[in-house]
Amino acid sequence: MDRPQVPRWIIYVVLIAVVLSWLPLALIVRARAVRSDETRVQIFQDMDNQPRYNPQAPSAVFADGRAMRPEIPGTVARGQLQDDERIYRGQVNGEWVTEIPLPVTEAFVRRGQERYAIFCSPCHGLNGEGTGPIHQRATNRGEPRWIPPTSLLSSQVRERPAGHIFNTITNGIRNMAGYGSQIVPEDRWAIVAYVQALQLSRDASVQDVPANERDRLR
Ligand code: HEC
Repeated sequence: MDRPQVPRWIIYVVLIAVVLSWLPLALIVRARAVRSDETRVQIFQDMDNQPRYNPQAPSAVFADGRAMRPEIPGTVARGQLQDDERIYRGQVNGEWVTEIPLPVTEAFVRRGQERYAIFCSPCHGLNGEGTGPIHQRATNRGEPRWIPPTSLLSSQVRERPAGHIFNTITNGIRNMAGYGSQIVPEDRWAIVAYVQALQLSRDASVQDVPANERDRLR
């Protein structure tokens, strides 16, 4: 019995279809192997490619030709107005505040202790006497123009109002540089609290200890 002959054209169509079915694969392999400057075809854009300027790039949009826009004078970042002169300048009506204008808790003083150890102790020493490692090194080397760090336990510093010490940390004093750009205001006050704690630790009477704690001292 004769098998029915498949028409020739069907064989050709199937052959061509098989060959064409390899084409996408071949294109993918080529795309992966060949380098191109063109942006890839992205089926899901997901805002991956957006028009933008690189840092420092020129732009014809603005009169000064810069894409990066300078800050508008007088710009204040959110929460950075710093209009409370007690907290941010340590003053009321031009006078130094005598009390720390933030709640002084144990955690606050401990924070101050930590910040003090980082920023102040290299010169003023962990105990505040002014004999930190920088002072010792300068003395050992006989640096002729070395100005010793003031002892924070001296009567001079003890008599300073809290706001004055805050200002010393912020802006520096005489030969000491300011740390305002490195220590946020809250931490500066915490350091003031710790300096006062150091001072108290050397000059306190039993009366300074709460009555219910006194027995533990004896
Ligand atoms: C690089 C060394 C150095 C560091 C760090 C330093 N100080 Fe001083 N400090 C000095 C020197 C030096 C003086 C004395 C300046 C003078 O008499 O010219 C001084 C003076 C002071 C005084 C006395 C100011 C007065 O009322 O007469 C205080 C208070 C003080 N420092 C606090 C601090 C605190 C708090 C820190 C940490 C935030 C700190 N210092 C960090 C070197 C330093």
